[in-house]
Order: sequence, then structure tokens, then C-alpha cells
Amino acid sequence: MNSQPTPLLCITTLFLLLLTTTHTSSADPEPLQDFCVADLQSTTTINGKFPTGFPCKPASQVTSDDFFFSGFTNEANTSSNDFGSFVTPGNVEAFPGLNTLGISMNRVDIAPGGINPPHHHPRASEAGVVVQGQVLVGFVTTAGVYHSRVLAASEMFVIPRGLVHFQLNVGIEKAILITSFNSQLPGSVVAPLALFAAEPSVPDRVLAKSFLVGEDVVRSIKAKFIR
Ligand code: GLV
Ligand code: MN
Repeated sequence: MNSQPTPLLCITTLFLLLLTTTHTSSADPEPLQDFCVADLQSTTTINGKFPTGFPCKPASQVTSDDFFFSGFTNEANTSSNDFGSFVTPGNVEAFPGLNTLGISMNRVDIAPGGINPPHHHPRASEAGVVVQGQVLVGFVTTAGVYHSRVLAASEMFVIPRGLVHFQLNVGIEKAILITSFNSQLPGSVVAPLALFAAEPSVPDRVLAKSFLVGEDVVRSIKAKFIR
């Protein structure tokens, strides 16, 4: 029997290899040019294919200012919500120079005892560094395993793409973290807000049945999130 691979098998294998390598190299598609500063005013919307997200502003209108961002210089007000934390986004919507580059960052400020509540990023993995303070960072895998550690300044963590995670300030001073993502717009689904503060509201009986509590408990939690 001839055990040589057929040309069709070779081509199919090569094609699959190519597909695998191109699709695992980054969360966002690869850029097609040096830069494509987002034109956020454009009425043309582009799905996350090529180019990613937003059309490019004309190269003739691009200036040095498009490649620098000072949005993380200000201390955030962590008492503006009951979680005691504030996330300042450095994504493509805040910093249009990131468009098509597949990366972004956040600054996270957390008051003592405050929490950046359980959330996940559907489009990116996250790597972060604690700049100041002591922070319990934790995430849960799809197998239900909880990983966590208390980090001090200059220590780093990683959250695999899509997994639920949080940061809790366990120190006595304000905590500051800088986080980074392999997507220009990682998205964030904040679990308590998604479940208890969605509009229109997720039905009480869905949440009661899911959390094994009475609807009165669900209503009292929802009441805390009324804006
Ligand atoms: C922290 O988890 C962040 O999303 O910036
Ligand atoms: Mn996060």
C-alpha cells in the first residue's frame, strides 16, 4: 500500500497550519500598515475584521499627538461608586492611535478595602502590574479552579482571555495598577452589573433560580444598583 501523502493532503495540511498560526498570533487581526489612527467621528462602522474597528484618519492629518496619551496622569475618584474603584480606559476609543495595533491599557485606582469587581474581557488576555499598594488578584478557570495571590508594587499578573477575575485592595493605602490587553478594545463584562443592573432587567426569577435564593433577595440586590 502506498503510504505517501497525497498532494491534496499536503495542501490541506499546509492550509490548516497557516490558518492556525495566523489565528493564534493575536486576539485582534494583524495591522495592514504602520498605523491607522482611528477616525472616531466617521459614520462608517467596520466589524472586527480588516481593518479592525474604525476607519483611518487621512495620513496627511496625522500628527505626533496621535501617538501619545496623557489619560493616566490624573488620580481617579474612587468614591464615585460603591465598589471603591475606578478604571480609566486607555483603549482605542480613548486613544485613537491604538487603532489596528491590537493592544491597549487601563489604569485602575482602588481605595483601601475597595474592589475592581469580578469581570471578564471577551476579546483579550490581560497582563498587569501593581504600581502602588497591596492587591489580592484572583481569577477562576473554566474548570472552576480559583487562582490568586496578594501582590505588592512592581509585581505582575496575567489573566487568561475571557476568565472572570478581580482585584481587591487589601492594603492600607490607595492601590494603583496598570493593566494591558492584546486587543485595542478588550470589552469588559462586569458580573454584578451585567446580572443585577442590566436594562431591561434580567427577570428576578431567573436570578433567584440561578443563585438559589428568593426573589426578595434578588430585588434587594437590584435596588442597590439603581442609578
Ligand atoms: C483590570 O482587571 C482591568 O480590566 O483593567
Ligand atoms: Mn480586567
